[in-house]
Amino acid sequence: MEVVDHLRQVSKLDLGRIALVPTMGALHQGHAELIRRAKQLSDSVLVSIFLNPLQFDDPADLEKYPRTPESDIAIALEAGAKVLWVPEHNEIYPGSIEKIDAGLVGSLYEGAMRKGHFEGVLAVVKRLFDLTNPTSAIFGEKDFQQLFLIKQLVANLDLDIEIVAVPTVRQANGLAISSRNVRLSPQDLKVALVISRALTNASQMQSVDQMAQVLNQILASEPGFKTEYAVIIDETDFSLATDATVRKRGLVAGWVNGVRLIDNIPMTGATR
Ligand code: PAF
Repeated sequence: MEVVDHLRQVSKLDLGRIALVPTMGALHQGHAELIRRAKQLSDSVLVSIFLNPLQFDDPADLEKYPRTPESDIAIALEAGAKVLWVPEHNEIYPGSIEKIDAGLVGSLYEGAMRKGHFEGVLAVVKRLFDLTNPTSAIFGEKDFQQLFLIKQLVANLDLDIEIVAVPTVRQANGLAISSRNVRLSPQDLKVALVISRALTNASQMQSVDQMAQVLNQILASEPGFKTEYAVIIDETDFSLATDATVRKRGLVAGWVNGVRLIDNIPMTGATR
């Protein structure tokens, strides 16, 4: 694996079909899974690590974002990356920075809680696509709304890039693996388990009303968890699901001891 800080250090011609795995570093087993999937789809897996300031509405959140360069290299190598690209700010944003409108879905849930977040995500993802020209790009379902908006971007701009979604990687106890988990104490980690427990229980309910009720009840039963939103949505447009919705998903965001966590799972229930 080559570790480069500028793309001119790699010959793209030697890479063949590139699968891009965009990341912000602090790699974990969720990223390793994206890299392994990327390897099946391409001649070369290119992992980018760029902590994109444009997608952080809160400078303190950016400041606190974990930085683990040594273990990033080990994880990317072990999972099968060919190139680990850690660009400087100037390579990504050489001139003025233009955010990309994320539309209606971009204004909901994560977009409502983190103003400008998705516009910043789309801007950097588009720039990474332009610079690397991948045949595919791999994203986790953990950031389900982000995944939707990136697919929408590719469709709107008619880009010839296959967007591949990889299911969320979880610990055996159900906790979704996230770079933010390193900021949780052992006690906080126990509190955070309420999220996957609530989603899983809700997913087994018969109706959307019951799903929403169970989801909110279980989350509220954990005093250490502060819910920001907990909803059952239609995967096709992020509107609130009804019993007739074919593809429903439960989305949760909330806080454990100052750390913001998100998770989601399909609501398969008995209505499908
Ligand atoms: O999901 C992330 O880690 C980031 O939002 C992404 C897609 C790498 C863009 O900065």
